[in-house]
Order: sequence, then structure tokens, then C-alpha cells
Amino acid sequence: MMGLSDQAILEQLQALDRMHHLHPFTDPQAVKKAAPFVIEQAKGAYITGQEIRLLDAMAGLGCVNIGYGREEMADVAVEAIRTLSYYHSFSAVSNPYAAALAGKIASLAPAGLNKVFFANSGSEANETLIKLAYLYWRRKGQPSKRILISRDYSYHGSTLATTRLNGNAPMIEDFGLAGGDDVLQATSPFWYRCGGDLEPEEFGLAAARDVEKKILEAGAENVAAVIAEPIQGTMGAIVPPDSYWPELSRICTEHDVLLIADEVVTGFGRTGHWFAQETFGFEADMMALAKGLSSGYAPISAAVISDEIADVIEDKGGVLHHGFTTSGHPLASALALKNIEIIETEGHVEKVHADIGPYFSKKLKTLEDHPLVGEVRVSGLIAGVELAKDKRSREQYPLEASVCNHVGQMALVRGLIVRPAGNVVVLCPPFIITHAEVDFLVGVMRDALDETQRALESS
Ligand SMILES: Cc1ncc(COP(=O)(O)O)c(C=O)c1O
Repeated sequence: MMGLSDQAILEQLQALDRMHHLHPFTDPQAVKKAAPFVIEQAKGAYITGQEIRLLDAMAGLGCVNIGYGREEMADVAVEAIRTLSYYHSFSAVSNPYAAALAGKIASLAPAGLNKVFFANSGSEANETLIKLAYLYWRRKGQPSKRILISRDYSYHGSTLATTRLNGNAPMIEDFGLAGGDDVLQATSPFWYRCGGDLEPEEFGLAAARDVEKKILEAGAENVAAVIAEPIQGTMGAIVPPDSYWPELSRICTEHDVLLIADEVVTGFGRTGHWFAQETFGFEADMMALAKGLSSGYAPISAAVISDEIADVIEDKGGVLHHGFTTSGHPLASALALKNIEIIETEGHVEKVHADIGPYFSKKLKTLEDHPLVGEVRVSGLIAGVELAKDKRSREQYPLEASVCNHVGQMALVRGLIVRPAGNVVVLCPPFIITHAEVDFLVGVMRDALDETQRALESS
């Protein structure tokens, strides 16, 4: 430990950070105005920094599923570094950890998804899948299939190609990446905001059929793939109506368009099944995995493709001109393997499905009676508490009012980390969260909402 209890050292580090560290998804002016909060330690479901201990109901960024600072993980890291600190996987070279991990992922993945390409981040996994989709269609003799269909409220990453898939205008426009006819945006299955007078299940079908409309307008012969998160996590834990996924899957099959499931958040148990494809009853042609693959202990991601796609890519062409220096890194692979072993031996997927997940859902949904809460959406251990200015009309607070940020701040000062996303408080706790911690979390959320309501009434 660095000894941040020494105020002078802490201030020195904060000064270095403010001067030299350009933070992701941060307003640099905020760093200029206030010293960064320095996290010093994390254990189990808690993080500690500057002598403050917080229950992390976001598991970092929805990744630390097995909890922080586990000794078994530290032991594996030491052993892997001592045994094989690095070697690449180019030119048909492998290492025991990467080989075992590829096999493990294939054994857990939905049927037919058996070939794994390793990268470092969720963005890279999605970017890899886009390139593999292009390659597949070219090697199949259908090079015109280039268009990608994404949805409003999506988040698929921060690389050049994945940025353009995001359903958030500033993320694209700030970099001059808007426009072009190779990426189309369809409606999100976000019933609360977009469903109008339709019942949720009717709207689920309508939202899936909006993707079909885009396919038909572009011409199916020009569409490479539809990419979609089973639950749109980053933009508000948007759980689609049950009717949505089977219909979207049917549409993609009917029009011979690849379906890419971005399971970066949902993969490895978050929704109470190993993959959200099982939760929502569909099968994708490709899937991206990242966060829960190593529980954030190492940067590693996986782009998983179907046997059909692998056969075309492998049999009809030469070298795969794509890869990263650290693809299949031994340390990251060893940590991912151990993480999966822990999830299996401690029965976390079953617990998210049948114990802690239902408990979390039942308790969190009690907040629906709060005047500020329009809807509470939950699947397994991912949830969105949607705020509403008018519960009946589902009218939102203007974002400038920062109501959701206020709820987040009020939770923070009471010892709880949540993630305000527009007008939704997102929660994505680690799988090891206890029933007592869920009670604490829901109590803090209610207090934070009450406090925010009082502030609104007095303003
Ligand atoms: C669904 C989804 N896809 C992709 C990404 C990008 O992953 P990364 O930040 O590891 O590049 C994220 C990150 O939050 C995500 O939530």
C-alpha cells in the first residue's frame, strides 16, 4: 500500500494526476476544479480511498463480478508471471493458458459458438467481430454486405469503428465521425421512453421490426450484421420486453444478416445465465465478451464466432491479417480461467438466477412507490432505476436539472457507489453481494431519492 494516509504524498499524487493524466469519459475542467478521488484499496464488494469506504454497487464498471482483491487470483497471477510472463499467439504459437481458456469459453458458450479470438477490451472484441463479419461476407463471395445496424441508446466501445455504432450523438459528433451510410441506427427496445401507448410486448415486436425496416430499406444484400447488447447497460440498463429478442433473431435469420450479441456486460452470469442469449432465448452468430471474463483482474476480451463463420474464414482464404501483441496473453488468460473456475465452484450463476438476483429485484422494486421513480428494471444483478418527473405521462426531468446526478451524490455520501446515466441510476453489483448489503443498498437509495425530492421541492 502506498501510504496515502500521509497527506503530503496524497496531495503530490493528486497534483501529478491533475497535471498529466487525461481521464477517460471525464470533463477535464472537472479535474481542474477538484482534486481526483484516489482509490487506494479494494476488497470484496468495497473500495477504500482517502479513508472513505464505499460499497461498490457498480462492481467497478460492471466487471468485478467475483469481488476485489481475491487471494486465489493473486496466487495465479504470481504463478503465471513466474512460469510464462509473456509470449504472443501469432503464427500458430500458443500457450497453455490461452489454449485452455479458448476451450473453456467454447464449452460454456451457446451451441455453435466455438471459435475464440482474444483481444484486450470490449471495444477491441467488437471491432474484431466487425472485421470478421466483413471478412466472412467477402470470403463467401458477397462483398457488398458492408452495412452495420446498431440501435439508439447503444454502447459498443471507443475505438474508431465501434464509436460510430454508439447510440449517443456527442460521442460520435465530437470526433467528426457522424454521417456515412454504412452504419444505420434502429429504435431501441426501450419501452419506458419510446413505447408510447403500446404495451411492452407489442412494443418489443415493433422495435425488432424497426431493425427489419432498416434491413429492407438498405437491401439485405448490403447488410453485414446487426450488433446489439442483450441489455443496453451503459445507457440505462434497458431490459427489453420478452418479445424482442426472439423476433430480432428471426428477422436476422430470415434476411441472412449476421447477429452480433455484445455480451461485454451480460456475459458470464450477470443476468442469471452464463450468457444473456439463454436469458432472452436467442442464438447469435457472434458474441463479444470482456468485463466478466476476468472480473477486471486483467484486460482481456474475446470475440467468439459460430462454426459456420469460422469454417468460411478458415477454409476460404489465407492469413487472418488481424491481431494484437497481447492477444491470448498468458497472465490475462490465467486470470480469466481462475475467475471462471471461481464463478463455477461458488455457484454464482445459479445464485444470481435463483437467490441473490431475485432478492435484489424484489427489494429494489420496492422503490417504484417513490414519487421520483418511474420504473425499476432488473435482470439478474443489473438494474436501472428510471427517474420520472411525471410518473403517469413518463415525462423526464431535463438533463440540465442534474436530478440523477444528485441522487448519485446523495448515495455516495451515504457510502454507496451507483452510476447515474442520464435519468437512470444504474446498479451492477458484484455477484458476492450479500442480502444484508442489498438491504443497505436499497435503504441508501431511498434516502438519496428522499433527499433529492426535498432539494427539488425547495428549489
Ligand atoms: C456493452 C458494451 N460493449 C462494449 C464496451 C466497451 O468495452 P471496453 O471499455 O472494455 O472497451 C462496453 C463498456 O462499457 C460495454 O458496456
